[in-house]
Amino acid sequence: MKIKSAEFVVSNSDVAKCPKNAIPEYAFIGRSNVGKSSLINMLTDRKSLAKTSGRPGKTQLINHFIINDNWYLVDLPGYGYARVSKSSKQKFQKFITNYFEQRQQLVSAFVLIDIRHKPQPVDLEFMQYLGEGEIPFGIIFTKADKLKPQAIERHVNEYCQELLKFWEELPPHFVTSSSKSIGKDDVLNFIGATNEEIEQLRNSN
Ligand code: GTP
Ligand code: MG
Repeated sequence: MKIKSAEFVVSNSDVAKCPKNAIPEYAFIGRSNVGKSSLINMLTDRKSLAKTSGRPGKTQLINHFIINDNWYLVDLPGYGYARVSKSSKQKFQKFITNYFEQRQQLVSAFVLIDIRHKPQPVDLEFMQYLGEGEIPFGIIFTKADKLKPQAIERHVNEYCQELLKFWEELPPHFVTSSSKSIGKDDVLNFIGATNEEIEQLRNSN
């Protein structure tokens, strides 16, 4: 899929105020600093559409970006960031869980995982939460430029083995690097194919 246009629409902390259009939406979630915002810039070929930072905790709100005028990418704050106060952490958790539980347009979440790290409870628990809510999700491994090809394969295999302890089937998964533009077509083609399936379903009803 080609990206012809990508524009920021709105930021907010209240799912009720998110855009009302009934168009497909894909949301990026994962630990702070894993590379959610950078991935949005890489996929859309825009240097600073989404704000990024070397310090965790940069994205604080639900950010909608409209792509090709017919679907949304959503940048969310990271979880597992210890330096925010307990009360702001709880507030964050509430608006993020509200987003996942109430957002009708959400077609799929993507849980971002730093490819260098072993499976972490916070990520596995978040996937469990999505599964219990019957919210479809894929996994996007980030920062693949930090490992050699053999290590990439080993880390992905180890991660998949861990997932198969809890899941009967593996979710769709992708290896990416925002700094080296790795995995761009894989992610965009997956979204493109999903959008087409939705369109066909709509037309047949
Ligand atoms: P929060 O908004 O704080 O939750 O973080 P985020 O997940 O949006 O991460 P962000 O995209 O802001 O990136 C965090 C840091 O990781 C930045 O310094 C990025 O330059 C770096 N980074 C992101 N993606 C990659 C990547 O693919 N490779 C490398 N080497 N660095 C990356
Ligand atoms: Mg961010």
